[in-house]
Amino acid sequence: MTRTVYLNGEYLPEDEAKISIFDRGFLMADGVYEVTSVLGGKLIDFEGHAVRLQRSLDELEMQHPSSRDDLLEVHRELVRLNDITDGMIYLQITRGSAGDRDFAYPSKDTPPTIVLFTQAKPGMADSPMAKTGMKVISIADERWGRRDIKTVQLLYPSMGKMMAKAAGCDDAWMVEDGAVTEGTSNNAYIVKGNTIITRQLSHDILHGITRAAVLRFAAEAQMQVEERPFTIEEAQAADEAFITSASTFVMPVVEIDGAAIRAGTPGPVAARLREIYLDESRKAAL
Ligand code: PDD
Repeated sequence: MTRTVYLNGEYLPEDEAKISIFDRGFLMADGVYEVTSVLGGKLIDFEGHAVRLQRSLDELEMQHPSSRDDLLEVHRELVRLNDITDGMIYLQITRGSAGDRDFAYPSKDTPPTIVLFTQAKPGMADSPMAKTGMKVISIADERWGRRDIKTVQLLYPSMGKMMAKAAGCDDAWMVEDGAVTEGTSNNAYIVKGNTIITRQLSHDILHGITRAAVLRFAAEAQMQVEERPFTIEEAQAADEAFITSASTFVMPVVEIDGAAIRAGTPGPVAARLREIYLDESRKAAL
């Protein structure tokens, strides 16, 4: 089925949406993105994604081609035009095209490029993996140092996913200076007793929108939250492990570098947080 996508103010069939070969997103990975999930035809955590998008743009001194209200309208229109019940909306903004290749940013009057498209994922909230859990390997974190900016430089995370796949696993947790930073496209957590442990916010990790919501719900449910680095060895000895992201919500991890967590079965804390997150975010969906 041909999707209707959004490009610079127009809704177009996907094969008619064209971007310049000089676009800096293409030449320099000079662009930022957001992924917002859709459940029951409504947007999950839209506000958080809109705020983080603005922050990424500000950090890179990039113009925002759209207001928050217009962006919401475009998201909703794409859901409607593509008849999305469950799935994701991908948004990307690049610094546009100056008509040539140059390391220096083009002049401020160069219009940014904005693209949005939908990805249908029927039954996304009922993923079988939530029942079986996922297996991860650890790899060195070889990304650049500003992982708090959600840029489209995703080659290393792609390589990490391929390394995981080659090892018969589902994802990779990245390790720097002996501690886990995050998953290739998700934030990483362990549970010890009644305490949820996840790395503190800094330039080292993406400030996950799902992370913020899940930690808030965890605190409301009287769970303890400790924001600090942890090692792979600590994770392997933990009571539970899990990840969060807009596309997986809360997903249990049952194996790390071949060592089973909870004898390879998903734990109650991850299950409870997944349930609360899905319930609460569906209620607040736009
Ligand atoms: N990835 N860390 C990284 C490196 C990520 O790429 C993501 C999201 C997250 C989780 O952030 P959030 O909860 O806001 O989705 C953490 C998206 C889903 C992606 O690249 O597809």
